[in-house]
Amino acid sequence: MFSIKSKIIFAYTLVFGIMLSAFSFIIFQSTRHAEFQKLEANLKSYSVALQTEIMEELNGGGTLDIKELRSVHAKGLSGVRFQLFDSMHKKILSDSVLSQAPNIDFNKEKRQYFHFSRFHTPKETLKILWMPIETEQDSLYMLETAASLRDAYEDLDRLFYIFIIVIPLGLILTGIMAYFISKAAFKPVTKMADNAKEITGNNLDKRLELPKAKDEVRALGETLNEMVERLDDAFKSQKRFVADASHEIRTPLTVIQTELEILERKLSDDEAKESIKIALNEIDGLTKLTSSLLTLSKLDSSQIRLNLTVVRLDELLTDCVQLLNKQAIRKSVKLDLQINDAVEIKADKEKLKSVFVNLIENAIKFSNTGSFVSVKLGVMDSKDIKIEFEDNGSGIPPHELPYIFKRFYRSNETRAEISGNGLGLAIAKEIIDMHKGRITVSSELGKGTVFTVILPMNIV
Ligand SMILES: Nc1ncnc2c1ncn2[C@@H]1O[C@H](COP(=O)(O)OP(=O)(O)OP(=O)(O)O)[C@@H](O)[C@H]1O
Ligand SMILES: [Mg+2]
Repeated sequence: MFSIKSKIIFAYTLVFGIMLSAFSFIIFQSTRHAEFQKLEANLKSYSVALQTEIMEELNGGGTLDIKELRSVHAKGLSGVRFQLFDSMHKKILSDSVLSQAPNIDFNKEKRQYFHFSRFHTPKETLKILWMPIETEQDSLYMLETAASLRDAYEDLDRLFYIFIIVIPLGLILTGIMAYFISKAAFKPVTKMADNAKEITGNNLDKRLELPKAKDEVRALGETLNEMVERLDDAFKSQKRFVADASHEIRTPLTVIQTELEILERKLSDDEAKESIKIALNEIDGLTKLTSSLLTLSKLDSSQIRLNLTVVRLDELLTDCVQLLNKQAIRKSVKLDLQINDAVEIKADKEKLKSVFVNLIENAIKFSNTGSFVSVKLGVMDSKDIKIEFEDNGSGIPPHELPYIFKRFYRSNETRAEISGNGLGLAIAKEIIDMHKGRITVSSELGKGTVFTVILPMNIV
């Protein structure tokens, strides 16, 4: 499809082309008309001058002096020639070229003054004028004069060639002009489109830059800004609701959990104890969900700031592995931590801990019983630290890889059997982004998965 810009350029060029062609056609036609009129008027004057001369000689009873007649001045004409017929239609003065031209019907045209015709010779075209001459003796002579149309045609040809050059040149110039005009006209729109691309669900407080001119583009920009404003309000109130709801649910959940734990200790019936264990498990999941939702809503509203301190990554990872060791043993998964040196970076310890815990927990969760999970800490270069979380579990299908960092995304295959909310990786990515680091994944279905976290040593 053609862009609006190219449509404008095409329309401009087409309209200007039609106008220019019509204008050239009118000029050409009127010049041609004027040229022929001028030639006819000059031919008439020449015929009248010849007529005067002939009358003078015929009325005086003398003989016609052809030399004298030839010397009659023909103003503005070239290639003039003439013939004279007497009242008996006999040629008295003859011209070799005009003799080849057809004669008029003498009887019919006798009294009709100024009869024009054309005659084409191989070399040129002649304009012919027939004019009756009445002598004092009432004899009717017929004078035939002719002039070449060569000069007039040459002038018209020149004009034609000028138009042939001017029209395409004019069209090219119009095209170039239309290009720059439309480019300038669309500049604010292009700028606004680039601006709009930067507005995402995470930065709805951003607005489009409006052009200074109070035109339609500015009106469109203002309308779009108002729309973003409304979306921002709707998003904010939705997030506020999630945050408030999570916050409100947390306290009763803690109370229920504590009460159930007390009840569990007091009960002696195994069946009842088992039921309470199941309930406590569900409450654990709910508590995790509310805390994840609260973290996300805080991240969204930029309430969370990094609390930067010097963190010993080797120690932090050892803590995380120890924390999850019980879970690993329960599933007979061997947790292996590979640390060569002590590594210190500036980071938010608690937030990094939540990221590492989620990654190790995922590796254990999605591994088969008796398999292997390894955590490797290494220095990549003078600036970056690399931590790898590797498992040889179920792996992630390639088509799911682009979605696993999205909120609430969980693989269809694991959804039913393995607990979780699909929020851990979304939170992890935001926290790593805040640290100006990167988190990537590579996975092979059925073979295992590696999550790699790269963190800058010195967060600027
Ligand atoms: N190590 C892994 N092996 C296989 N699949 C994984 C692995 N880590 C993550 N996934 C897939 O990515 C999805 C998202 O992971 P994420 O940590 O965000 O959520 P979750 O673990 O299901 O729930 P939550 O972390 O909120 O308790 C998982 O449900 C799983 O399908
Ligand atoms: Mg998880």
